[in-house]
Amino acid sequence: MRRPGLQLRLKLFAALLCTVAGFALFALLGPARVIEGSSLEEESAAGQARYSKFSHDIAAHKTACSKCHTFPSKNWKAVRPADSAFADITEYPNHASCINCHRQQFFRGARPQICTICHTNPGPRNSTRHPFPNPREVFDASPKGKDAESEFDINFPHETHIGIVSQLRPREVEFVRAGWTTMRRSEESCKVCHQTHMPQGDSEEEFAAAPPKDIGDNFWLKKGTFKTSPIGHTTCFTCHSPDTGIEPAPSNCAACHAPKQKAPTADFDKALWARVGLRDRIIRDAWSTRYSSGTYRHEFPSHAELDCATCHDVSSMKTLDPRSMKVPITSCNNCHITATSDDGGVLNFEIDSRKADASFRCIKCHLSFGSQPIPESHIKAVAAMAGN
Ligand code: HEC
Ligand code: HEC
Ligand code: HEC
Ligand code: HEC
Ligand code: HEC
Ligand code: HEC
Ligand code: HEC
Ligand code: HEC
Ligand code: HEC
Repeated sequence: MRRPGLQLRLKLFAALLCTVAGFALFALLGPARVIEGSSLEEESAAGQARYSKFSHDIAAHKTACSKCHTFPSKNWKAVRPADSAFADITEYPNHASCINCHRQQFFRGARPQICTICHTNPGPRNSTRHPFPNPREVFDASPKGKDAESEFDINFPHETHIGIVSQLRPREVEFVRAGWTTMRRSEESCKVCHQTHMPQGDSEEEFAAAPPKDIGDNFWLKKGTFKTSPIGHTTCFTCHSPDTGIEPAPSNCAACHAPKQKAPTADFDKALWARVGLRDRIIRDAWSTRYSSGTYRHEFPSHAELDCATCHDVSSMKTLDPRSMKVPITSCNNCHITATSDDGGVLNFEIDSRKADASFRCIKCHLSFGSQPIPESHIKAVAAMAGN
């Protein structure tokens, strides 16, 4: 429910917008604008362009999330089908969260740039908006969402959650069991939040996208390479909801969203990704955060049979610390790392090849990492298999 005072202010504001936009239109058609190439005009155009993109990474914007994001949004029932709708944040902040500081940007020019952050075709009578970045299923399909990048990382303490049911108070257990029965068995729980993305399954087509012509056999981007991670609140808010009272509350955005840290280099080829032309945020986000092996494919039969724990130790993983999510090379032991090259280990083979030819690129598990110096961990892994 809106407070009457607020409603009145919004009305006044809308009226003000009409007046200002009308005036701006007049100015656009009027003689003052005919002076071409005026430096003043160019300057203001460049100054305006800055305002077409919102960033949380500006001192003045680093305040309580609730100053701009009001939980839940008014439209939460409308963005998802009735049977799967839940109280969520699904709409842009309103004008009141910007206007006090950005009066100038809101009331300047025929089409103030700042409006386009939220509106598709802003005008005094046109309030149509881009989809809000959540839910991603809708946003990703929109022109604004296709190449969007989040400014946040997610804080999800795996260890706390995997054993969670045993720690809950009785009332919570009751609730959680109703919609959540798999959290107990840790390996079972993984697939609730992580599924094989774009699996090949029975399909004949191995590749996730058509290989660029000049790459041919070296193209590696196969279906079923990546695992998904949650892209929204559906799973988290089954437990973190006003009904259960389990902290953090859904309104406590900053408990789960932390500003992105500077990440280490990933085994990612940005130029190749641009050339492939596949606009899939899930692949882009997963590949560009591969700090171990860019080419590792989860769906591959001999890989899919392994326990996740063979390679991922969730008890030592901190989702806000990329280094902690690295997969140790010793997880590839026996199959790709053997006592000697003759035993078939591809790592042995690649190390030998590099020793024979300094320009040799390691391509089995890597993209950009393959031309770098051989890390200590690789030499040690081979030595350990040889019993040294
Ligand atoms: C000054 C206003 C303001 C504040 C304060 C603010 N936001 Fe936002 N936030 C916005 C706007 C506007 C958008 C939409 C931006 C867009 O779509 O281009 C947005 C979008 C987002 C998104 C989706 C885009 C992305 O980068 O993933 C997330 C997540 C988000 N905000 C989380 C937060 C969290 C967490 C906080 C508090 C730590 C916070 N916001 C504080 C205004 C704000
Ligand atoms: C507490 C004051 C304050 C609030 C509230 C605020 N801003 Fe800002 N904003 C600033 C300041 C200060 C800057 C940096 C100087 C400038 O460009 O005006 C800025 C910069 C910007 C920029 C330029 C970004 C860039 O990269 O240079 C955009 C776009 C913007 N704000 C949009 C918004 C929107 C949209 C809202 C409401 C959801 C909002 N701001 C709320 C103070 C505020
Ligand atoms: C930070 C996002 C954001 C920005 C920036 C923004 N709007 Fe809006 N606008 C909204 C939202 C959200 C609503 C819906 C408000 C509601 O229904 O309570 C809205 C509503 C409107 C409406 C319908 C009338 C009203 O006030 O409810 C008009 C018209 C409008 N905006 C025009 C503009 C124009 C013109 C600009 C730039 C000067 C602008 N908006 C900037 C988010 C934004
Ligand atoms: C309730 C949901 C949930 C469950 C259950 C869960 N995870 Fe996660 N996992 C997440 C979230 C959220 C992230 C952070 C993703 C991000 O940064 O975008 C994550 C991150 C990861 C990552 C790192 C991803 C990356 O970007 O490098 C791995 C690996 C992982 N989880 C493995 C597991 C394994 C193994 C299990 C089962 C033991 C498991 N997870 C269970 C939600 C879950
Ligand atoms: C099965 C129910 C359940 C689900 C699903 C769930 N949580 Fe939790 N979460 C809890 C409980 C219970 C706690 C409190 C644990 C405690 O205090 O020991 C908690 C605690 C947390 C904490 C605070 C932990 C700390 O150590 O400070 C964060 C952050 C969090 N959850 C994030 C998430 C995110 C992100 C998701 C979705 C990817 C999620 N949770 C999904 C039940 C759940
Ligand atoms: C219990 C944990 C939790 C809380 C609390 C939470 N979120 Fe999220 N949010 C997530 C997870 C997990 C995702 C999916 C991962 C991702 O998108 O990075 C997500 C995704 C989003 C997205 C889609 C962003 C994108 O670009 O992927 C937006 C927008 C968003 N949250 C905004 C908010 C806002 C605003 C609040 C506070 C009102 C909030 N969230 C509270 C866990 C949480
Ligand atoms: C044989 C080793 C191995 C096994 C088994 C394995 N993974 Fe992975 N996984 C990896 C490697 C390597 C990466 C890439 C990590 C990196 O480069 O940072 C990865 C990445 C991930 C990611 C991040 C998204 C992506 O694809 O980059 C998630 C989530 C994940 N694994 C979940 C799982 C789950 C869930 C299981 C069990 C069903 C599992 N993994 C089994 C080796 C493995
Ligand atoms: C069987 C798969 C496999 C092969 C073959 C392989 N690597 Fe790796 N590589 C990994 C894994 C897993 C990691 C992440 C764990 C680590 O850093 O040891 C990694 C990490 C790296 C890193 C990043 C190290 C860091 O500190 O961030 C570099 C560089 C690298 N490898 C180079 C090479 C070179 C050069 C070769 C060929 C001689 C090679 N790798 C062969 C699996 C492989
Ligand atoms: C249980 C045995 C086993 C383990 C452990 C294992 N792999 Fe494999 N992997 C295989 C087999 C078998 C193949 C198919 C033969 C080949 O290409 O060497 C394969 C193939 C691959 C391929 C090529 C896939 C393709 O589609 O062509 C890559 C890349 C790879 N593995 C990376 C890794 C990495 C990185 C690790 C460790 C993090 C790992 N594997 C752990 C058995 C394993």
